[in-house]
Amino acid sequence: MKRILKWTGIVLLLVVAVFVATVFGRQHLQFEAPYPDITASTDSAVIARGSYLVNGPAHCTGCHTDKAHETAFVKGEPVPLHGGMPFVLPVGTIYSRNITNDKTYGVGRLSDQEIARTLRYGVGSDGRAIFDFMPFYMLSDADLQAVISYLRTVPGDPVEVPPHTFNFLGKAVKAFLIKPMGPLDAERPKAVRPDTSVVYGEYLANSVSNCAGCHTERDLMTGDFIGPRFAGWRHMEGIRPGSFFNTPNLTPDPVTGHLHSWDFAQFKARFRAGSTFPDSQMPWANFARFSDDDLKAIWNYLHTLKPVANETGPLKEPAAS
Ligand code: HEC
Ligand code: HEC
Repeated sequence: MKRILKWTGIVLLLVVAVFVATVFGRQHLQFEAPYPDITASTDSAVIARGSYLVNGPAHCTGCHTDKAHETAFVKGEPVPLHGGMPFVLPVGTIYSRNITNDKTYGVGRLSDQEIARTLRYGVGSDGRAIFDFMPFYMLSDADLQAVISYLRTVPGDPVEVPPHTFNFLGKAVKAFLIKPMGPLDAERPKAVRPDTSVVYGEYLANSVSNCAGCHTERDLMTGDFIGPRFAGWRHMEGIRPGSFFNTPNLTPDPVTGHLHSWDFAQFKARFRAGSTFPDSQMPWANFARFSDDDLKAIWNYLHTLKPVANETGPLKEPAAS
């Protein structure tokens, strides 16, 4: 009996040792994805579109600044794009990168195609799988070009962002679970015409502004959508640990739909007003810059969704005492 126990113990130890060694050996996995045929333009209309997307609907600004500029950002003031915002997750701490055009620390060191591949497929310039913070995988060619064209005009800000830090769970996730999230075989639109149509509203709400990503219940480990799309998400952690929000149901349900008694003027006014709760994750400061037509397109699209009855409760949950 003792001998069996001893051998079981030795085998278990070996299994653990092999597992740990494998985890450490798989920290630099390389992934493949094509380089999109996208080149920055110097056309002022293209750059203006990029500036609108980055500082408005695609809300790059809020994540790609640093902690010191968080309050300025919430107030809607301009903030630098030099990165460094820490995202503290169960797997470790991930820092947003410097996306100014700096040649050493920013995207100035990357080719247009490398930036395009990062955003379209989630494969970084060094072949790593990018953490799924930026679901811009279905941006049209024209909008991806506009975003990169604008980034090329952002003067380099030589700020070095610390590397991500991972605990053992994080290292195991990197070794076995994380993979690039941008579908390789999906057909992206060449261009989507900005107007007030449902088609454009659907594109904004899903591919640009990611309304679905926060207004749908998700599995926190895998990121999978587990609730009906746009029907709200209860108990989502806010920017400050310990604060929790319930994202409201945006489907046109006559009882539990958050917008059921609103008209478009109220919807627009709500977006213009900016943030109510400083620790809400919704990038209100960026979204305050939405054009009237883009808001109308989203409004029109939300009203074509299938109504889903889902009571999500107050927007902010009372702090736990
Ligand atoms: C929700 C937060 C968030 C938003 C919104 C966001 N980013 Fe990021 N971004 C990150 C994080 C975090 C990383 C680091 C990810 C990693 O290394 O796995 C990153 C990495 C990047 C990189 C890789 C840079 C490098 O040095 O390799 C680029 C390029 C980038 N983001 C551009 C953008 C652009 C352009 C937008 C808007 C269209 C945007 N991001 C919006 C959080 C965000
Ligand atoms: C990063 C997460 C996130 C994204 C992206 C997001 N939301 Fe929200 N949204 C929230 C949270 C959290 C709340 C509740 C707290 C608050 O009001 O700020 C909220 C609240 C709302 C409200 C209710 C505000 C009120 O005062 O009654 C509306 C309407 C709304 N979101 C619409 C949208 C639309 C439309 C989009 C896309 C353009 C969107 N959201 C994108 C997280 C998000």
